[in-house]
Amino acid sequence: MLTNDPFWYKDAIIYQVSIRSFFDSNGDGNGDIPGLTQKLDYISWLGANTIWLLPFYQSPLKDGGYDISDFRQVHPDFGTIDDFQIFLDEAHKRGIRVITELILNHTSDQHFWFQEARKDRNSPYRDYYVWSDTDARYSDARIIFTDTERSNWTWDHDAGQYFWHRFFSHQPDLNYDNPCVQQEMKDILAFWFDMGVDGMRLDAVPYLYEREGTNCENLPETHAFLKELRSFLDENWENRLFLAEANQWPDDVRPYFGDGDECHMAYHFPVMPRLYIALRKEQRRPIVDILCQTPDIPPSCQWCMFLRNHDELTLEMVSDDERDYLYNEYARDPRMRINIGIRRRLAPLLDNSRRRIELMNALLFSLPGTPIIYYGDEIGMGDNIYLGDRDAVRTPMQWSGDRNAGFSRCDPQALCQPIVRDPIYPYEAVNVETQERLPTSLLWWMKRAMAVRNEYPVFGRGSIRFLHPENESILAFLREDADSRILVIANMSRFAQATTVDLSEFAGLYPVDLFGRVAFPEITEYPYQFTFGPHNFFWFELRSVD
Ligand code: GLC
Repeated sequence: MLTNDPFWYKDAIIYQVSIRSFFDSNGDGNGDIPGLTQKLDYISWLGANTIWLLPFYQSPLKDGGYDISDFRQVHPDFGTIDDFQIFLDEAHKRGIRVITELILNHTSDQHFWFQEARKDRNSPYRDYYVWSDTDARYSDARIIFTDTERSNWTWDHDAGQYFWHRFFSHQPDLNYDNPCVQQEMKDILAFWFDMGVDGMRLDAVPYLYEREGTNCENLPETHAFLKELRSFLDENWENRLFLAEANQWPDDVRPYFGDGDECHMAYHFPVMPRLYIALRKEQRRPIVDILCQTPDIPPSCQWCMFLRNHDELTLEMVSDDERDYLYNEYARDPRMRINIGIRRRLAPLLDNSRRRIELMNALLFSLPGTPIIYYGDEIGMGDNIYLGDRDAVRTPMQWSGDRNAGFSRCDPQALCQPIVRDPIYPYEAVNVETQERLPTSLLWWMKRAMAVRNEYPVFGRGSIRFLHPENESILAFLREDADSRILVIANMSRFAQATTVDLSEFAGLYPVDLFGRVAFPEITEYPYQFTFGPHNFFWFELRSVD
């Protein structure tokens, strides 16, 4: 059963799932909702208590389902609305909450509204979208999908006008200056919250409005609308959540929290690439700098942290030099690149190094915010950079060494995506069943790390304070609340390192390792000495021992 805590998202570990790629229950080659329901016990066993679902609505599936043609229908490949209700109830029974997608910014061009709009200038739906006789308006707005789109305007022959789109040209943007659009979106939100979903991810939220002379991002009108949406939420439902997808600098994301009256959570996009930079440079500085530049957020709000997701590892929130560095270090093969980012999974990005995978996850779980695990990364799945768009990282979950990696009983040729065949990441070994049998597997390590995190709410709710060891490869910070005080200390270097840290304020206490419960020597007023193997990290509780 679910706890009755409005701040549940602070204690969450989120598991991100693409239904299409997770588990196929009827053997048609597509993952489906009943399949996901069957795997709820696995997600719960792993230690996640929240699931974020990629879109599963009616859609031509030209953008992974972010191109919606009916917001209230489930795509028939994935099941029915009844299947979804069963899934939701089963998740809730296990104490698991569910976050779905609210795609506010655009629809598919196959949506009834757009079909009507393009046919007839006098249709009430015409004004649901943004039209123009020229393609010269809003020229300060950047293009997001740089590999596929040349302009944010596309000529529509039937309509006899250009329509505005921030993403693919088959995804027309909705017109938020039209109150009917605002009302439609509230009704859709109500439909899903009434069914019982616990949170909604507000997809592509910075782009709702357009204004000449601006870059059409983060406009005051957008924030005003989000505040209205939030009041609508608070008036009608309890313990629900908005998660903002705003790929922006910290100062521009901050307003999405408002004064605690806009979104409850937002992704911390800028910290993510800096974790990868810090790892490659073997320096703590990039992580410390970005977190020190991150403004405070209202007490009811929370950052969402991630290492990877269903999109490219986006490199928009870095400087030009940093971007070049990341491309060079993490995506030498041009096929690994797409738009302004890198289409690879966690394990391949980290050269399948177990130490690096553990270190990065340890940071994910211990830096302030709520962590998200992308399905398959808990077993170190590989990717397939030969697939189109971002499908490299959307291949079927690997459940066992059986045919189709246990994902589906279908003819292998009927699979929605091929199983990863890369010999470095063979599904015969990289799968849940095999790793469950092996106590030293990555899967078991992830499960243990998550269990520790779940045991110490300070990771989700506590403050952060950086320490400054003289060795620049060592990242050290304290997570503190009224109940506990955790020292996280990590070696970003691939070589053994030693350092001293001034812990004199804790003299008399002992660092107790949270994994093995082993107490280290007592802290005194003298500098405390730590030694590390390559990419080693520790989570120490600083406490007295009896
Ligand atoms: C979001 C999604 C991405 C999608 C885009 C357009 O950024 O994460 O997958 O392509 O919105 O809908």
